[in-house]
Amino acid sequence: MGRKDNEYCHTKGEGKCVQKDDLEKIMPAYFESDMIVFATPVYYFDMSAQLSAAIQRVYCIGKPAKATKAAMLISSASPGTGEGAVVSYKNMLAYMGVEDMGVFALAGEECKSEEKLAEIRAFAKGL
Ligand SMILES: Cc1cc2nc3c(=O)[nH]c(=O)nc-3n(C[C@H](O)[C@H](O)[C@H](O)COP(=O)(O)O)c2cc1C
Repeated sequence: MGRKDNEYCHTKGEGKCVQKDDLEKIMPAYFESDMIVFATPVYYFDMSAQLSAAIQRVYCIGKPAKATKAAMLISSASPGTGEGAVVSYKNMLAYMGVEDMGVFALAGEECKSEEKLAEIRAFAKGL
């Protein structure tokens, strides 16, 4: 892609990205959802590269059309290592004008806990 395509989405593309890739599979859900749930393992004190890439690819839309709420699910080996991911998530929500409904950060054995899973299911039902 040449420089002439810079900011195509925000200038001529009406929110459509000039890059054609798997983003096109995610985009309809991103447009239609009333809530976005971000889920990631902690890789070196931050969210996974895959989630980060997906977030960066919705730049063309900027703010989701309908979503007013979000939550984040984090799994890690050690407790307290997901703070970098939480900071990025919160900054992004502030930018999007979307409300944080909760962050679930589970570590080690907690990630396999039926009790924790039930807690998250109850949270989801209560939304
Ligand atoms: C490349 C890599 C980096 C990781 N970095 C961290 C880390 O910084 N802190 C931590 O607590 N766990 C770290 N882990 C462990 C994962 O966060 C943990 O195993 C996670 O629950 C794996 O989820 P998954 O089964 O979905 O891959 C790392 C794992 C990998 C593979």
